[in-house]
Amino acid sequence: MADNTLIALKKDLKDKKEWVNIVLDRFLPRKDEYPKEIHKAMRHTLFAGGKRFRPYLMIRTFLLFSEDVEKISYLAAAIELLHTYSLIQDDLPELDDDDTRRGRQACHVVYGSNIALLASDALLVNAFEILSHAEIDEGLVIKMIKELSLDAGIGGLLAGQMDDIDSEGLDKPDRKRLNSIHNNKTAKLINLSIRFACYASGASEKDLQKMEKVGIKLGMAFQIIDDVLDVEGSAGMMGKTAGKDAMQGKVTFPAVYGIEKSREMAEKHVQDAIKILNSYGHKAELLIMLCEFILTRKF
Ligand code: IPE
Ligand code: IPE
Ligand code: MG
Ligand code: MG
Ligand code: MG
Repeated sequence: MADNTLIALKKDLKDKKEWVNIVLDRFLPRKDEYPKEIHKAMRHTLFAGGKRFRPYLMIRTFLLFSEDVEKISYLAAAIELLHTYSLIQDDLPELDDDDTRRGRQACHVVYGSNIALLASDALLVNAFEILSHAEIDEGLVIKMIKELSLDAGIGGLLAGQMDDIDSEGLDKPDRKRLNSIHNNKTAKLINLSIRFACYASGASEKDLQKMEKVGIKLGMAFQIIDDVLDVEGSAGMMGKTAGKDAMQGKVTFPAVYGIEKSREMAEKHVQDAIKILNSYGHKAELLIMLCEFILTRKF
């Protein structure tokens, strides 16, 4: 990526991240509101940083087909609330047992597992609440609630997390299972961000189908690189512990295919996505840069 395009992406990411943070901050109860401990714990992880990758993907996809981005502020916030809930739970001692998240101590380390669990539940519930207030057609809101329930529930994220835990320490690399875990625990929510943007922007059925392919490809690439960074990355850059996947015997792309092949596979997914995005011309420039960022990111 040329330096000037990288600067343009960074600036746009920063702008949109600030916008999403304002929406989240206004929607969530203050730290000193009852029950304080829960609100403090929610904000601890929600406002610890985080790339806001999924809201950004949603915003940029929306802008391919429409203009009034304010319309999706609550949708973008809903996806981030749901994602953050999944991170707090993912770090619990009962799951990945991680102490660091987004450059801070994990929620359960600061507040204890009991409060971290309640705070993550609150974020999950808030995701649906904010979605219900979205300023879009009510029929569309219901459709989104149904799809989010499925993709974040046992039809997606939770099934992926279940299989992720269940597969720890498996001797035989199981490629089919690996793909299914990554698709469920990560790719579906990333794809959903794109799909919701298509619905809200009134994109055609043909565009929706094209963009769904982009969503699944980017989702897979995103989790493959997350696995790669767990091996090659530094905790300082990532804001979370490195090297844990191998220690815990997780079924990851590097464990099954090795680092080099994993990177190649992620690159292939990203190239496939970029081929589709190229058909949208200059409007898709920042999305294409974001695709490249998935491969070059260090955090
Ligand atoms: C981390 O997601 C968990 C995965 C699904 C790979 P991100 O890499 O988007 O984490 P934040 O939101 O930037 O902290
Ligand atoms: C992502 O997988 C799991 C979620 C859906 C939250 P990881 O367990 O690899 O995510 P990190 O590396 O802890 O962020
Ligand atoms: Mg995990
Ligand atoms: Mg984890
Ligand atoms: Mg990981």
